[in-house]
Amino acid sequence: MAGVWFEPAERIAGSLTPPPDKSISHRAALLAAMSDGTVGVRNYLRSADTASTLDAVRALGAQVAEREYGGPGKDLEVTGVGLRGARDARAGIDVGNAGTLLRLLPGWLAGQRKGSWTIDGDEGIRRRPVDRIASPLREMGAAIECRDGRLPPVRVEGRHLRGIRYELPVASAQVKSCLLLAALQAEGETTVLEPLPTRDHTELMLKEAGVPLRIEQAGGTEPRVVVAEEVLRLSLNEVTVPGDFSSAAFLIVAALLVPGSRLILERVGVNPTRTGLLRVLRRMGATADSLDFHRSGVVSGERVADVTVGHAQLDGTAVGAGEVPLVIDELPLLALLGAFAEGNTVVGGAGELRHKESDRIETVTAALRSLGASIEATDDGFVVEGKGHLRGGSMDAAGDHRLAMLGAIAGLVSREGVEVRGFDAAAVSYPSFVSDLEMLTGARAADRG
Ligand code: S3P
Repeated sequence: MAGVWFEPAERIAGSLTPPPDKSISHRAALLAAMSDGTVGVRNYLRSADTASTLDAVRALGAQVAEREYGGPGKDLEVTGVGLRGARDARAGIDVGNAGTLLRLLPGWLAGQRKGSWTIDGDEGIRRRPVDRIASPLREMGAAIECRDGRLPPVRVEGRHLRGIRYELPVASAQVKSCLLLAALQAEGETTVLEPLPTRDHTELMLKEAGVPLRIEQAGGTEPRVVVAEEVLRLSLNEVTVPGDFSSAAFLIVAALLVPGSRLILERVGVNPTRTGLLRVLRRMGATADSLDFHRSGVVSGERVADVTVGHAQLDGTAVGAGEVPLVIDELPLLALLGAFAEGNTVVGGAGELRHKESDRIETVTAALRSLGASIEATDDGFVVEGKGHLRGGSMDAAGDHRLAMLGAIAGLVSREGVEVRGFDAAAVSYPSFVSDLEMLTGARAADRG
């Protein structure tokens, strides 16, 4: 299998705008397709996952005009089919590797007046559970079937839906978003209760599209409550997608760990439901000198800021269930940070990691152990003993984009460098990752394919 080699970096220096946010790009394309009229999307992510979303909305009848990327103005124009106008897609819908698309799309399709759809994806997607959306959608009246009752392919037929009150058994923004999309076509009120707050991009974009949502914020042990009702139409005019904090996080961690680094990341999405890593890093000892936000503002309802990062000495910390949803996609990076911190870093209450693009408890601990880290998996997390350094070596990306990029950053901060086998997986969310790293380190990654 082709491997890419990442040498230890002397420093991480320069400024860069990280790629557009993947979660928000998926939602922009979907909500635009569900809208009446044409929606302009600026800064849409061009990656394997978000290309799957454009293919899916085209298959459902939306028209998508793509402009030159990075040029002035909009780079996508989506002419929607309207909330109730999804077309039958006889060839089926292929979501590729995109878990977010897999979970959100049935929410829209389940409430169509007519039509039926089969949603499937690659080998990785066929291992991602969908019973978490199928059972509440069925409670709403949906006709939805999945393989062995819990896995893709998913078959959905349009039905009349009724609103329900549903408390999420797992903290999942994808499940919440799926139910909110179904709620827009359901009779009566739909109430979604989330025991722990998860990313709220769907709520923010629905508000931008003129949907009246009622949101009661969680206080203490009270769940956060989102109430949605049937609407006639969505009217989204334009969306600007901020930079992806989860992609930026790889560069943030590299700059924190390599002495002498100075990095500026521009126009990064800093929605507080995504930036749990910052809180964890503060606890680990990153002060405003090594990590800070500047020039913050709001675009399309989402908070953005420039982020400055430099080297910091870190202490180990503990992350528990209450904090996990706000840092879920950054937990692999926390395992790497833990290897360099003073003392132990313990993550618990993160069993959801087993249902990501790979079983990230197994793949992250196995990969970092093979590079010399002292890390053990637990049922719902991991424990890392900080040694202050990492040897390096060779590891496998296991078809998981975040594992591929974790390996690259591990190479930069290691003593001997790291070979990442199956590095191509990174294209799912960050196709320009290697060229961005080369720019910030001044070194070339070597392709050993
Ligand atoms: C996402 C939600 C999270 C996250 C995933 C993207 C989203 O998944 O891990 O990368 O865009 O809503 P869950 O909802 O399964 O926690």
